Amino acid sequence: MKVLVTGGAGFIGSNFVRHLLLTRSDVEVINFDKLTYAGNPESLSDVAANPRYSFVRGDITDLRAVTDVFQKGLDAVINFAAETHVDRSIEDASPFLMTNIFGTHCLLNAARTFRLKHFIHISTDEVYGSAPAGASFTEETHLDPRSPYAASKASADHFVSACANTFGISAVILRCTNNYGPFQFPEKLIPLTIANAREDKELPIYGDGMQERDWLFVEDYCRAIALTLERAKPGAIYNVSAGLPQANLKIVRTILAYLGKPDSLIKYVKDRPGHDRRYALDSSKIRRELGWKPQVLFEEGIRRTIDWYIQNTAWLGHARSGEYLKYYERHYVRRAETFRG
Ligand code: NAD
Ligand code: DAU
Repeated sequence: MKVLVTGGAGFIGSNFVRHLLLTRSDVEVINFDKLTYAGNPESLSDVAANPRYSFVRGDITDLRAVTDVFQKGLDAVINFAAETHVDRSIEDASPFLMTNIFGTHCLLNAARTFRLKHFIHISTDEVYGSAPAGASFTEETHLDPRSPYAASKASADHFVSACANTFGISAVILRCTNNYGPFQFPEKLIPLTIANAREDKELPIYGDGMQERDWLFVEDYCRAIALTLERAKPGAIYNVSAGLPQANLKIVRTILAYLGKPDSLIKYVKDRPGHDRRYALDSSKIRRELGWKPQVLFEEGIRRTIDWYIQNTAWLGHARSGEYLKYYERHYVRRAETFRG
């Protein structure tokens, strides 16, 4: 089976590519990634030499590049590629519209032309908006995106459903809560807190820090995506969550305690505009229909995540400085030039 993973140099994508190569010997993976600031090919250096893995630097908004990669004969596409940071979408939504909406449209176009068998679209819990205390959203909940990022993801979801309906594209949508784990770019709450705390830098907490997120360890999400590829019926939408919403302040304090750093590093700053107070999903459908459930408790996952960042300071440095592009140059561009002679 030949699987195209878009955005496979990012956080969840790279964890998923590794998971698929290690668990499915019948699968060949093509990683198609633009290598924005968030995409780091070094995250997959351990599998780069695997004969069942290849990397193509490309942009999902470039229909010609997308067509070229579809010509390799694909059985499935899993679309992770996206602009993903809410704060950046508040600064400037344009790249979010381009990649998250137009890029998805280009992939759907190719899926239609090439009669693709499986299109898995990686969406987010943010499309439902903020969940009232005690409530959790199901797949039937109407979409109510409240940030430019969430609006671009909700729009993409509508395109996926509309193209499935209009053109018969065989598509599945996954909506997951916040992931955490190795290889996450240090702009997001957990890696930012770990990286800053280790350097005794201030930890910005937006507003009162009592906003809740339902953190899922990235390996658990990778298992859910792999099960979706194997078992999901076309047209399905699945929520994926750990089922344990926790306040941001609690997460930050847990990290500080593990690192032996003082709470005085916490700095309350101006709140994110339009900040969603709480995300919570009911994931009983995927548990019931695909037999998925999370296996990593938060206490274990956060320890593994912190330990990983402590042991991978070079990765962190390269991600922050942009040096990861040198890795790409060394390992892909120059090798290809040598090969061409
Ligand atoms: P990320 O920001 O770490 O990685 C995104 C990847 O997409 C990068 O490798 C980047 O280079 C690539 N990319 C961006 N624009 C591209 C383009 N135009 N063409 C090709 N590649 C492009 O993202 P992530 O956190 O791994 O999220 C992956 C997906 O999961 C996204 O669709 C996101 O909306 C969704 N999601 C993320 C979370 C989370 O907690 N991280 C939770 C739910 C859903
Ligand atoms: O819910 C799924 C979403 O989770 C994904 O779709 C997004 O791609 C991903 O970025 C993430 O969005 P969040 O906005 O929830 O993640 P972030 O790590 O940016 O923030 C988590 C919470 O922590 C949020 O309530 C804002 C807060 N926060 C974040 C940062 C970076 C702070 O208080 N301080 C910070 O410095």
